[in-house]
Amino acid sequence: MGSWSKLAAVAALGIGAPLAAIAADPPAVDLTRAAEISAGRCSLCHGPDGESASALYPRLAGQHHQYIAKQLADFQSGRRKSDTMASMAADLTAEEMLALGVFFEKKPTKPRTARDEGLAAVGRFIFHRGNEFSGVAACATCHGENGRGTEQLPRLAGQVPKYIESQLKSFNQRERTNDNAIMHSIASKLSELEVKAVALYISTLD
Ligand code: HEC
Ligand code: HEC
Repeated sequence: MGSWSKLAAVAALGIGAPLAAIAADPPAVDLTRAAEISAGRCSLCHGPDGESASALYPRLAGQHHQYIAKQLADFQSGRRKSDTMASMAADLTAEEMLALGVFFEKKPTKPRTARDEGLAAVGRFIFHRGNEFSGVAACATCHGENGRGTEQLPRLAGQVPKYIESQLKSFNQRERTNDNAIMHSIASKLSELEVKAVALYISTLD
């Protein structure tokens, strides 16, 4: 068993949640409060509908609420390091984090168009097939054929390409400090071309 197939097997344990749980309605939360916090604080960078205000910031629209709430808790505790997000999350309660997650998950998503189709084609290959010569696992194995993720795994589809690139670099250098084991092993085997290509392809998924 290659090292990445072992990793895929480990991750599959985590994704093996019953389908019913995945399709379940989001928990009841105070969406009015979430909208207030978002308008007052988050929208400046992440956009009024979580679509991201610029290439510097991740899109939150359509992201799984469990993942958003978890990342906010990790920013608050310092498990995931980011000076900007640490201050943004500093005074949020667990209920507010969950409410913000549900608020953004409900927002509409939109795929991007790739200007460089040749590069996107390389990314499509990596995403669906990986790179057997360097041992890179196909991203689709864990993140899903359309990059939509699961309650345990982030949605990638339609994400800002620059953000994907920056996270792959942070995983590689272990600057993304929380839960980086699986993605470190993958990102450390990606060439610069593969990083750019796969980030571009991911941004075109819906
Ligand atoms: C000043 C700009 C700014 C503001 C305002 C801001 N963020 Fe962020 N946010 C960022 C940046 C930059 C990152 C990426 C951090 C990194 O590189 O790890 C980020 C990352 C995130 C992530 C992780 C996304 C992922 O895909 O892993 C979540 C969730 C998030 N922000 C939620 C929020 C919420 C909720 C608010 C409002 C309470 C907010 N942010 C306000 C800049 C901002
Ligand atoms: C073996 C399973 C697995 C495979 C294969 C995999 N990932 Fe991941 N990925 C994860 C997990 C788990 C996380 C969440 C880490 C966390 O919770 O912080 C993640 C997180 C990410 C993130 C961060 C998303 C965000 O919103 O911040 C990016 C980007 C990413 N993966 C890209 C990729 C790419 C590109 C590939 C293919 C080259 C890939 N992944 C293959 C399991 C996998």
